[in-house]
Amino acid sequence: MKNTNPTQTDAWKKLLRLAEKKKDQTIKALFEDKLRFDKYSARFEDILVDYSKNRVDDEVIQTLFELATETDLKEAIDSMFSGEHINQTEDRAVLHTALRNRSNTPVKVEGKDVMPDVNAVLAQMKEFSDKINAGDWKGYTGKPIKSMVNIGIGGSDLGPVMVTEALKSYQNENLEIFFVSNVDGTHIAETLKKVDPETTLFFIASKTFTTQETMTNAHSARSWFLEHAKDEAAIAKHFVALSTNSEAVSAFGIDTKNMFAFWDWVGGRYSLWSAIGLPIACTIGFDNYEKLLEGAHAMDKHFQSVDFDSNIPVILALIGLWNTNFLGATSEAILPYDQYMHRFAAYFQQGNMESNGKYVSRNGEKVDYSTGPIIWGEPGTNGQHAFYQLIHQGTHLIPCDFIAPAISHNPVGDHHPILMSNFFAQTEALMNGKSLDEVKAELAKAGKSEAEIEKLAPHKVFEGNRPTNSILVKKVDPFTLGALLAMYEHKIFTQGAIWNIFSFDQWGVELGKVLAKNILPELSGDDKVSTHDASTNGLINSYKAMRKG
Ligand code: F6P
Repeated sequence: MKNTNPTQTDAWKKLLRLAEKKKDQTIKALFEDKLRFDKYSARFEDILVDYSKNRVDDEVIQTLFELATETDLKEAIDSMFSGEHINQTEDRAVLHTALRNRSNTPVKVEGKDVMPDVNAVLAQMKEFSDKINAGDWKGYTGKPIKSMVNIGIGGSDLGPVMVTEALKSYQNENLEIFFVSNVDGTHIAETLKKVDPETTLFFIASKTFTTQETMTNAHSARSWFLEHAKDEAAIAKHFVALSTNSEAVSAFGIDTKNMFAFWDWVGGRYSLWSAIGLPIACTIGFDNYEKLLEGAHAMDKHFQSVDFDSNIPVILALIGLWNTNFLGATSEAILPYDQYMHRFAAYFQQGNMESNGKYVSRNGEKVDYSTGPIIWGEPGTNGQHAFYQLIHQGTHLIPCDFIAPAISHNPVGDHHPILMSNFFAQTEALMNGKSLDEVKAELAKAGKSEAEIEKLAPHKVFEGNRPTNSILVKKVDPFTLGALLAMYEHKIFTQGAIWNIFSFDQWGVELGKVLAKNILPELSGDDKVSTHDASTNGLINSYKAMRKG
């Protein structure tokens, strides 16, 4: 990948001038162009992406495409797909796209085609998930598996949680799935209360198989299980490992024939397409898991082959970059109007923030421009009654992605039209706002006095001009969800490539982990701790005192 400071490109400099020149331009006024929706929306399979409610016009969009060209985005995309070691700080390829490469064309890492290994693990996953689904995988007392518990954290948790929730209506009704991630003992304790050791399967999901939280939870689950089964040989029927680390899996006591492998070129936050997806395949069936992969693959081909001006992930990335670097946005909200997608924003919180939350550029210097925004969000309409106030009238510019299905899996009464009316209304309100004159007229019509109108009116004005994308899908099915996930992944990739940062490492999570390991032994015993700063010493010593008293 090239190493270009984006701020030194002609396009960046021009974008700075355009942002200044167009600072009073409103999205509302841009809709005088009657073709704006047609021009600024794109379709892919059953997905419609409307990006017309952004503060962009042809000049801005063209210059953003120039920025992508000047920063060699095309070359970066090709480098990723062709297996180059673009994760340079870990000296690894980045090939989650190979895991869903349904065309099965060879993908080479250091000269070796990885597809035979990918296909072999998929075949193993199919065989296993078919058995679980058919009730043919039996526990130590001969009963079929009814409950599954995934123990993992970060990328080894969020993807499977998010997808199994989003596709809950495809779930095998004879099976239930639980996720344990937090090292807080409450998480495993409350989960174990709900399951029966005779009919429970544990997935120990960890790329490294060394993550403290996961290994602690896994050992507790193992002890709990053995208290009931009283036979180590029974572990083989109730514990499987999803990992790249076969030695650590064996050391834990899981037979490697019950291990589903993946490789160092799969990033944790991009791993739901790998063996980490086994709980998904077991929950919704392997055929549906394959459709998820197909949807992602279709989006991969789109991203790899379509020109920037109609390339959906590229367009979304460039608009996000415009909002962040030229309009001053520091966060982005992801707002699914679909209850099943309630973990979607949390999933991309890791996907985006662990990827692009970096202040060091690819040449090792501190950047002097903003990189990844804060990602957050909750499903609509709940968010409307919680934080939308700030999006509408707060002092921060918060670009939002609104996502909704045209067809609900639960067409109960008029719930869906009500939900959708809110989905449409919010982006309209955020764009148009409400002027002082409109507010005054409304108050007058409601019979308010002149004095009351003067007092109330400023509080009821909405500036509007708040940017949104609307992503309307026909139905949240496995294929569409796969495509949507790949769309956001490639948006993140595009932005990281242009920001000239390394999107596939995560050194920023290391320091806290190391310090926690140092502190852990200090928490036992009665000795006062004095090895830290005064605040940390004070907190640790108070903790110890509280536990005694
Ligand atoms: O949070 C750091 C991280 O390394 C993530 O990138 C990863 O998804 C998570 O920890 C879990 O790692 P593992 O799968 O190795 O247990």
